Amino acid sequence: MVVPPERGPAGLPVWMVRPNMDNIPQIALPEGFSMRPMRLDEIGLWTDIWRDAEPYFQIKGDTFMGVYGLDLPAVERRVFFVVDEPGVAVGTISAWYDRNFKGVDAGRIHWVAVRPAFQNRGLAKGMMTFAMNRLAQWHRVAYLDTQSKRIGAIKLYLDFGFLPDMDADGAVEAWREVAKDLKHPALAAAGSL
Ligand SMILES: CC(C)(COP(=O)(O)OP(=O)(O)OC[C@H]1O[C@@H](n2cnc3c(N)ncnc32)[C@H](O)[C@@H]1OP(=O)(O)O)[C@@H](O)C(=O)NCCC(=O)NCCS
Repeated sequence: MVVPPERGPAGLPVWMVRPNMDNIPQIALPEGFSMRPMRLDEIGLWTDIWRDAEPYFQIKGDTFMGVYGLDLPAVERRVFFVVDEPGVAVGTISAWYDRNFKGVDAGRIHWVAVRPAFQNRGLAKGMMTFAMNRLAQWHRVAYLDTQSKRIGAIKLYLDFGFLPDMDADGAVEAWREVAKDLKHPALAAAGSL
């Protein structure tokens, strides 16, 4: 029996796939900001950014290890901070992976957050360009998962060529909810939503 995906505070789970790594939008970070890799002694900083940014869930002290603990050596290659000119970390993104996403080795955009005081300045767009360029060095497809109420994030991912994965359980209902709040050409192209 297929168990329907559970609704949580951020809505229903949604999955998005990018079937190739072509034509990644090349968007520069705003002036003064740059990307740098995370170090393994900076789990507290990652946790602090997420506590600042996350509107729906409690970010616990062990959240980072729950997400990345199975491959800590990959963290320093795949998890990044965006920093301002003095070096203060204001956001994070990861160019993560899944060795068996529907049977293929796939890149995974994972845990994207920008501190509220720095949102709506184009930081996430620049972070996505950076992380997607990294993924393109290692993988030929990419995917991500998020939740239906995260409309700003879903718009960003659609703009970067990710498409709704309609094979996922509960996809039709979840994407109908997204489409009520987000008008986007890629959703219009999906038709029956
Ligand atoms: C999602 C998030 C990372 C976006 O960061 P950001 O730096 O503010 O994003 P940007 O300024 O680069 O904006 C990206 C685009 O999304 C749009 N956008 C942002 N919030 C939006 C919203 N609530 N509704 C619609 N569009 C939105 C912006 O207008 C921009 O589009 P444009 O290029 O047409 O102007 C940030 O809001 C965040 O950290 N949210 C909380 C954590 C979260 O939900 N992360 C995603 C987990 S999957």
